Amino acid sequence: MRLVKSSVIEWKAAAACLAVLIVIVVQALGLGAVWPQELAEPRLDEEIVKQEKIFQRRGADVPSGYITNRGLSDYAELLPTGFCDALGRLGSPDRWLDIGAGAGQAILDYYAPPDPAAPAEKCALPGDLASAVAMSIEDRRTAAWHQLAASLGERIRYLTGKSLRHYSVEELGKFQIITDVFGGFTYTADLSRFVEKVLSLLEVGGGFYTLVPGVHLEGGDKLGTWYLTELEDAGGRPEKVCSWLKKTACVQVTCESKSDWKRPTELIKVEKVCSDVSVPRMKLVEFEAGYPPDRRFQLEQ
Ligand SMILES: C[S@@+](CC[C@H](N)C(=O)[O-])C[C@H]1O[C@@H](n2cnc3c(N)ncnc32)[C@H](O)[C@@H]1O
Repeated sequence: MRLVKSSVIEWKAAAACLAVLIVIVVQALGLGAVWPQELAEPRLDEEIVKQEKIFQRRGADVPSGYITNRGLSDYAELLPTGFCDALGRLGSPDRWLDIGAGAGQAILDYYAPPDPAAPAEKCALPGDLASAVAMSIEDRRTAAWHQLAASLGERIRYLTGKSLRHYSVEELGKFQIITDVFGGFTYTADLSRFVEKVLSLLEVGGGFYTLVPGVHLEGGDKLGTWYLTELEDAGGRPEKVCSWLKKTACVQVTCESKSDWKRPTELIKVEKVCSDVSVPRMKLVEFEAGYPPDRRFQLEQ
C-alpha cells in the first residue's frame, strides 16, 4: 500500500516538473497565449489591478490618451446614427444613463448646450429634458458639474466609487437610453456580464448606444490592424463583436463599421425588444491594462 502511495507521489512530482518545463519552453518560444489557465489567472489579476490604477491617475499623471471630457457633440459623432434623435425625443419622465461618463461633460452639454449652433443641438432641444445619471469608477466631477447639479437637484446624478457590476437594478432603476463612449464596454474584463447588466437596466423599447475600437468589423477588416478587443468562438475561431451580440435573445442589434477610422471601430446600437434577455457567455482569456486595454475573450461551451 505504502509502495503504491509513494509511487503516486513520485508520479505527481514528475508531472509537476513536466508542467514547469513546458511553461519554460513555451515562454522561451514566446507562446504566452497557451499558458495553463492556473498560471494565466494571477497574471490577469495583476493586469486588472494595473487597470484600476490607470483609472485613479490624476492631474499630469493622467495619460493623454485617457480622455474624460468628451462633450455631447463628440457623443453625437461617435455613437451610432439615431442616437441624437433618440435622446432629443426623451422628455421629463424619461431617464438617460451614461456609463463611464468621466467628467460628465455630455450630460452638462445636454442641460446647458455650449453652442446652440453645434451639431449636438438636436440632441437637446430646449424644454422638456430627461433626467440623467453619470457613472464613473473614479470621481472626475468638475466645478461646472457641481454648479449645475446644485441648480438642477435630482434631475442629474453622478455615481462614483465602483463599476457598473456593483450596482443593482433596484438601486439604479431603469432607463430609456444608455450610452457608453470609451467607458465600461471598452474597459471591462467581463464583457458578457457587462452587457447583461446594461440590458437589465434598459426598459423594453430602450436603446444602448456604444462603440468598440480596434475590433474585427462586421463589414470586413483592414489589413495590418492592431486589435484591442478580440473575440473567439468555443473552437478558437475569430468571432465578431456584432455577430456575438446578435446571438443575444430579446435584442435587435445594429452595427456601423468604421473601417477608415484610425482604429477600425464598430458603432453599436442594441435595442431591447422583450424582457427575457440572455447573453451568450464570454470568458476572459487575456487582458493587458491600457487606455484602452487589450482584451481577448472566448465563448464558453
Ligand atoms: C476614457 S474615460 C471616458 C469618459 C467619457 N465617456 C468621455 O468620452 O470623455 C473612461 C470612463 O469609463 C469609466 N469606466 C470604465 N469601466 C467602467 C465600468 N465597468 N463601470 C463604470 N464605469 C467604468 C471610467 O471610470 C471613466 O469614467
